[in-house]
Amino acid sequence: FAAPRLRGLHALVTSGPTHEPIDPVRYIANRSSGAQGTAIAAALHRLGARVTFVTGPATTPPPPGPAVIRVETAAEMHAAVKAALPADIAVFAAAVADWRIANAASSKMKKGAGRPELSLTQNPDILADIAGMTEGRPSLVVGFAAETDDVLANARAKLARKGCDWIVANDVSPATGIMGGAENAVTLVTSDGAEDWPRASKEAVADRLAHRIAEALARDTAR
Ligand code: C5P
Repeated sequence: FAAPRLRGLHALVTSGPTHEPIDPVRYIANRSSGAQGTAIAAALHRLGARVTFVTGPATTPPPPGPAVIRVETAAEMHAAVKAALPADIAVFAAAVADWRIANAASSKMKKGAGRPELSLTQNPDILADIAGMTEGRPSLVVGFAAETDDVLANARAKLARKGCDWIVANDVSPATGIMGGAENAVTLVTSDGAEDWPRASKEAVADRLAHRIAEALARDTAR
């Protein structure tokens, strides 16, 4: 008996923050380091998958092995994900900005020009878009839910709303030290229920997730 592997399968992983420009020198961003997404791409690659890693401007260097596609904005990430399809597995670990500036300036905004009015417009939801595909949908679509309150209830609601197969939920309250830290404590939420995984390094969490993915796909193809 050999543990299931991912040879011959294509896995798509998004990671890192997005930067949404205000003008050519300023942007709106978030505190995602890309550490968990990078570890997941590396773990899927170690199990033999061909991995495409679509990353925003993260502080964690991309893993060796996967094909790396660097993007800046949510719109660019959306386009890169669609261009990378088809995929068997899609893991959306990026912290995508929900909003972008509708009226980003094409030259640097000047202080003397008065108080700027920034108008926001909603970004595409990449996870929901791919999970809702009627043709060519990846077999397994995994989303993340970074929450500070009611982690499980929010994750369950997100699983239903986004139409993905699994949600990896984590508590990113500042006291946990998870966002920007080396460790993660997650709850895996599937249609079968929820499992709390013990706090561990982001690499260990990624390994466990990659093995779970391999098991799930092995079960699928055995049917
Ligand atoms: O709704 P929320 O941002 O909490 O959902 C988080 C999940 O959705 C993550 O898997 C994230 O990568 C994905 N997402 C996305 N595109 C967005 C917003 C979130 O793919 N615009």
